[in-house]
Amino acid sequence: MDTWTTSHERVLARRSAGGWMFLLEAARDLRATGAVAPSSRRLGKLLTDRVREESGRALTVLEAGAGSGAITRVLLPLIGPGSRLDVVDSNPRFVGHLRHLVDAHPAPAGHHERVHVHQARIEHFDVPRRYDAIVSGLPFTNFDPAQVAAIMDRYLELLHPGGTLTYFAYRGTRLARSLLASRSEARRHREVEQVLAAYQRRHAVGRWTVWGNLPPADVWQLRAPAAVPAADSAAEGRLITSR
Ligand SMILES: C[S@@+](CC[C@H](N)C(=O)[O-])C[C@H]1O[C@@H](n2cnc3c(N)ncnc32)[C@H](O)[C@@H]1O
Repeated sequence: MDTWTTSHERVLARRSAGGWMFLLEAARDLRATGAVAPSSRRLGKLLTDRVREESGRALTVLEAGAGSGAITRVLLPLIGPGSRLDVVDSNPRFVGHLRHLVDAHPAPAGHHERVHVHQARIEHFDVPRRYDAIVSGLPFTNFDPAQVAAIMDRYLELLHPGGTLTYFAYRGTRLARSLLASRSEARRHREVEQVLAAYQRRHAVGRWTVWGNLPPADVWQLRAPAAVPAADSAAEGRLITSR
């Protein structure tokens, strides 16, 4: 058997193991896992396009809610010399799987030192660095509105001025909740969407729909405000930010 076939088969085996693991974790805790299947390749590509476009320079990238690594797998080859990828998930079983995934990734010398996997809730993830890009896989509509606002604020804080946050939201979940869940759950869901809409109004620079995902998903891209030069902000007597 040639090397390509064996490594290709290894990738396929790992992907299918990731799929089963995802289903198991969804059965254990659907609210935190947020889906029954990992993101599709098309969704993975759209979520990482921004990193791909900029991958010619040194980048700091954060992936939050990495699960079984569907998006991590797409990000790994984009992390070149001088770049850094922090991968975060709150579920220790996913974190173990992600560490194996990173270790098994065929990479040039030095690549593994650029990728760090952390077990943490993203709202408590305390790091001394800022990021050029954040890719978020968190199931926001399963959270409380206040938690979503806290996470979005934290993301904006963690981004360099002008850095991008890319995240997705499954389509049709509000209708499903309004038909199948309690009134208070349906209200919570609507309130989360209102919180997200406020951030989208202020910061969105792009939105795309991936119909081929299970379930179909909207991808949102938000940009952190760019800092205004110090002289201008001094003239105003305060720090000004602009889009
Ligand atoms: C919908 S899955 C996305 C998985 C993967 N990114 C994908 O696209 O296939 C959401 C992931 O977020 C993780 N998660 C949920 N709440 C979290 C939190 N507060 N902080 C970090 N990770 C969280 C879950 O453990 C799960 O792995």
